[in-house]
Amino acid sequence: MKLHGGILTILLSLLFIAEFICISESTQPPFSCDTSNPQSHSFKFCQTNLPIPLRARDLVSRLTIDEKISQLVNTAPGIPRLSIPAYQWWSEALHGVADAGPGITFQGGAIHSATSFPQVILTAASFDQKLWYRIAQVIGTEARAVYNGGQAKGMTFWAPNINIFRDPRWGRGQETPGEDPLVTGKYAVAYVRGVQGDSFQGGMLTHGQLKASACCKHFTAYDLDNWKGTDRFSFNAQVTKQDLADTYQPPFRSCIQEGRASGIMCAYNRVNGVPNCADRNLLTGTARQQWGFHGYITSDCDAVAIIRDNHKYVKTPEEAVADVLKAGMDVDCGSYLANYTKSALQQKKITETEIDRALHNLFSVRMRLGLFNGNPNKLLYGNIGSNQVCTKEHQDLALEAARNGIVLLKNSARLLPLSKKTSSLALIGPNGNNANVMLGNYNGPPCISVEVLKALKSYVQNTVFHQGCNAVNCTYAAINDAVNTAKGADYVVLAMGLDQGEEREYLDRVTLTLPGQQESLITAVANAAKKPVILVLFGGGPVDISFAKYNPKIGSILWVGYPGQAGGIALAEILFGDHNPGGRLPITWYPKDFIKVPMTDMRMRADPSSGYPGRTYRFYNGKKVFPFGYGLSYSTYSYSFVHVSQSSIYMRNLTATQSAETSYGVRYLSVSDISTESCENAKFSAVVGVENSGEMAGKHPVLLFMRQEKLNSDTPAKQLVAFESISLEAGSKAEIEFTVSPCDHLSNANEEGLMVIEEGSRFLIVGDKEYPFNIVV
Ligand SMILES: *[C@@H]1O[C@H](CO)[C@@H](O)[C@H](O)[C@H]1NC(C)=O
Ligand SMILES: *[C@@H]1O[C@H](CO)[C@@H](O)[C@H](O)[C@H]1NC(C)=O
Ligand SMILES: *[C@@H]1O[C@H](CO)[C@@H](O)[C@H](O)[C@H]1NC(C)=O
Repeated sequence: MKLHGGILTILLSLLFIAEFICISESTQPPFSCDTSNPQSHSFKFCQTNLPIPLRARDLVSRLTIDEKISQLVNTAPGIPRLSIPAYQWWSEALHGVADAGPGITFQGGAIHSATSFPQVILTAASFDQKLWYRIAQVIGTEARAVYNGGQAKGMTFWAPNINIFRDPRWGRGQETPGEDPLVTGKYAVAYVRGVQGDSFQGGMLTHGQLKASACCKHFTAYDLDNWKGTDRFSFNAQVTKQDLADTYQPPFRSCIQEGRASGIMCAYNRVNGVPNCADRNLLTGTARQQWGFHGYITSDCDAVAIIRDNHKYVKTPEEAVADVLKAGMDVDCGSYLANYTKSALQQKKITETEIDRALHNLFSVRMRLGLFNGNPNKLLYGNIGSNQVCTKEHQDLALEAARNGIVLLKNSARLLPLSKKTSSLALIGPNGNNANVMLGNYNGPPCISVEVLKALKSYVQNTVFHQGCNAVNCTYAAINDAVNTAKGADYVVLAMGLDQGEEREYLDRVTLTLPGQQESLITAVANAAKKPVILVLFGGGPVDISFAKYNPKIGSILWVGYPGQAGGIALAEILFGDHNPGGRLPITWYPKDFIKVPMTDMRMRADPSSGYPGRTYRFYNGKKVFPFGYGLSYSTYSYSFVHVSQSSIYMRNLTATQSAETSYGVRYLSVSDISTESCENAKFSAVVGVENSGEMAGKHPVLLFMRQEKLNSDTPAKQLVAFESISLEAGSKAEIEFTVSPCDHLSNANEEGLMVIEEGSRFLIVGDKEYPFNIVV
């Protein structure tokens, strides 16, 4: 279409005016209850001295039915007659404030970027709860700054992703803290407390006021995106009560009970036939009643529509609407509830009370965020400005997280660290000159962009780069050219692995090998290089790199995950010895034949009768490329058990509860029968000594495991009990005191999904040291 010149000019000037209005509007954050508006004095919901439940009830009572229905979706319109602005429930902040949801914009205001931390799977590899908390604090601060600057339409962030990284092929495993329920739960708690403005220890939120709102997702047993034609929108996860109880649910329970998350998201998939968002037992029974959840529950985007369209769980849209509202879901990411709630009401499938219940939760969270307290610039967090985004401290923290996450997987003959006097380097590989690959997914624009190439050049000016492959999928490799580049250099660094083209939301992998010609390229370059080469692997999910592990011409291997805005710098610091690597794998690295296991099989426990190998370090009984917790350092660390306060734990003396016997003849106590006080009294301490006997200072995560002497079909091979990261100077020692709680750490689920403590001998394990003890029930 061709526009007449005059009209064009008018249109352009209109556009200019529109833009101007837009900009002037966007410099002020949206809020209700402006004290300069006389009307607001008459509203009880504006009276900040009243309790939030009362204010929320007052507000909901003032709404017409159409206004009520309009608020049940993520893009909630304003209600001008009550001076309530529009609200956007959907914002993202997985590893930094992101514009991956519609709630946040980095345009039209003072803030154009935010600190981009490593993708969560790498941050998890630091096994450092304090670091996780500090990162989350920064995310909360930058989120507030974005809001105060008028660039946020909401303050509800849909992170963290705390599903268990159950299968190595999962495209979104990168977003999670890995495969262990304890680690994942601790990560959830640290993230939620940091983002919401709570203290590290928790319990400090003033009047429930939130700095920003965190949301634990995806509830529950969601860890398949799209594998060989099975997709998350129609997947029916068959999950045993046992696996739910000690694998899938514990992170969500921690997130709610200890983290006090103000949001949860119900997942797309069904669990044992019931779509999560329509599952009253899950949302109301488990989350709200059993775990005391008080926040809001959102659907994943379009998760209500798919209940009918994909799962075929109900016949009409109104039935889907009724099911989710009755189940306890509050807000629909999508438009289904806006479109079909009225007719559901007319068809008497729901009552207005059920709508009010949801609205009460929704407005309570908006009130806790301070959005109904008048001008937020005058309130708590109101002074957080754009100068608190991408500060030096925040960016240093992104660097610290990348440094402490990166995992050294191989370092033959101490090839690393390289001398800073190295005269020439060759950098080869499709991830070598791409800053974007380091951001993973659900990212915002980073404060800085530094490619690996640029970071290496700051150490060795004479660094030549060759991409080696056409792309990360490496459908074509320029092997001869890469080999020639390699031959000319003192040392060769290969930047290989995965990217979002290989693993992402809605794309699970179907193999565990490196993409395309990568392996051939690496091997050819290693053969041609003057010295053993250094292989750097990007990616969230594990790769079977046995060929490299056993090839003496590949001297060192590092896994860098998706290391965030400072990842290239951190890698260079590690290669040249300015930082001593200490990260440890938060996931098992399986061999490539693991793909014979259907990704759709949710069972954690092995089934010897069918050859099913089980999943994760807790239950998988097959060969591993690298085990959970694996990670080297430039130092060597040794451990000892200094003191364990009890060698026999008489649970029977601590509780009046009767023990029972399992079908395989082991006595046990049910944790739910033991009082909180008895659980408290049963705790004992284990003091572990750690020594850095190397020549470099280092930060080292210490992992304390437990194993049962006699394994049976219910019990894991071993289980993480506690972990802590400790900084040690070269040649120095320290002691860490861990608290072991039999109820929490020495229990496992039985087939009925009850957590039980079995009688018998156990061992505490740290590194190569074991300490025996006994449980008597
Ligand atoms: C809801 O209605 C709007 C407007 O008619 C339409 O664009 C949208 O697709 C509908 N959404 C659903 C999920 O039916
Ligand atoms: C390989 O990646 C490139 C760049 O992303 C893309 O254009 C191409 O389609 C991919 N090839 C295959 C076979 O996936
Ligand atoms: C617990 O009871 C056993 C006997 O059942 C006894 O030998 C032991 O001393 C008691 N332990 C404690 C700590 O009371």
